[in-house]
Amino acid sequence: MATTAAPALRFTRVPHPAPAAADVRAQVLANPGFGTKFSDHMVSIDWSESEGWHNAQILPYGPIALDPAAAVLHYAQEIFEGLKAYRLADGGIALFRPEANAARFNASARRLAMAEIPEDLFIAAVEQLVLTDQDWFPTVEGGSLYLRPFMFASEAFLGVRPAKAYRFMVIASPAGNYFKSGSPAVSIWVSDYTRAAPGGTGAAKCGGNYAASLVPTAEAFARGHDQVLFLDAADHKWIEELGGMNLFFAFDDGSIVTPPLGGTILPGITRESLIALAREEGLTVREERYSLDQWRADAASGKLVETFACGTAAVVTPVGKVADHNGEFTIGSGGPGQLTQKLRQRLVSIQRGEAADTHGWVKKIA
Ligand code: PLP
Ligand code: COI
Repeated sequence: MATTAAPALRFTRVPHPAPAAADVRAQVLANPGFGTKFSDHMVSIDWSESEGWHNAQILPYGPIALDPAAAVLHYAQEIFEGLKAYRLADGGIALFRPEANAARFNASARRLAMAEIPEDLFIAAVEQLVLTDQDWFPTVEGGSLYLRPFMFASEAFLGVRPAKAYRFMVIASPAGNYFKSGSPAVSIWVSDYTRAAPGGTGAAKCGGNYAASLVPTAEAFARGHDQVLFLDAADHKWIEELGGMNLFFAFDDGSIVTPPLGGTILPGITRESLIALAREEGLTVREERYSLDQWRADAASGKLVETFACGTAAVVTPVGKVADHNGEFTIGSGGPGQLTQKLRQRLVSIQRGEAADTHGWVKKIA
C-alpha cells in the first residue's frame, strides 16, 4: 500500500493483484463498444456525518459489499456523472470540462438530499483513476476512456429520510461508439411515457430518472429505434430530450433551436459547449420550446434541415428518422447533415487537442 497526495485527502492505493493480461486488454481496446468492459482499478471515498469525506482509496476493480438495508437499495438515493478522458494529439491525457461535471454532480446531490463533494476532490478522484489506468485508452479511431463517478446512500436504515452515510466511487470504461448499429444517423421513438415533471428530478442525474426511462426505451428498441424521445409532462407536446442525450434542430435560415433548461431536462455539458461553438460559427441559437407537431411540419416543408442528439457518450449524433403512433417522418436526407458534422468536428478537435482551446475546457492531466 502506498499513498499519493491529492487535494483535501490522501488516497490509499491498493494495486490490482492480477490486472488484465496485456493481450486481453489489447483486444478490448481494439473493439471497446460502450460500457461493458472496465479498467483494472476504481476509486472509493466514504462520507459520514461524523467524519465527513474520508477513506479515499484506489482499489482493484471488483464487487463491493453492501448492507442489504443500505438506503440506496430501497429508496434509490443515487446520482452519477459521465465524462471522458482523451489521449491528445501530443500523447498527453486530458479531461473535458470536469469542473462542469463536478458542479452538476453537486447540483444532483442537493436535489437528492445527499452530501456534496468538494469539486477538487471529485476531480482529483477522476484524475487519480485515469493516471492509474492510463493503459486503458482505446486504440480505435474516436475512442476515449469513459469515466463514471457515482454516489449512493450506504447507510443501513429503512426509515424514509436522507441517509447519513454515502459512498462516492469512480469507475472507468474504454469507450468507442455508443450506438451499436453503427448506422450514420439514429432513429427515435416518441414515447407516450413521461420522463420528468415540473418540480421533479428531471434536471438531476439520478439513477431513478433512468429507471423510469427503461420501459419506454425497451419499447423504442422493440420497434426498431435507437433512442426514446420524451415530450413535456403537462401538454405532451413540447420536445424535451432523449433518454440519454439533448437535442438540437437546425433550420434553413442558419438558425438552431434547442429546448430550454426548465428543470425537467438534464443541463448537458455537450449542449452548453455546442451552443457556444455554434454562436462562434455565426449561427443564431435559440433556447426555446419546439413542439413535435412543428418539427413534423418543418421537416415536411424543408424548413428544418437537420436534427442532432448530443451527450458525452453519444458526442454529436445525427437523427435521421422519427416515429410515433401517427407514423414516421424523415429529417433532411435521413443521413448526417453538414452542420451536424461541422459542429461535431469542432467539438471533437478541441476535446482531442487538435484545435485551440479558447474556452479553457480542456484539462490536461498528464
Ligand atoms: N440528457 C440525458 C438524459 C443524459 O443522460 C445525458 C448524458 O449525460 C445528456 C442529456 C447529455 O449530457 P452531457 O452532454 O453532459 O453528457
Ligand atoms: C452520458 O452521456 O454520459 C450519459 O450518461 C448517457 C447515458 C450513457 C446514460
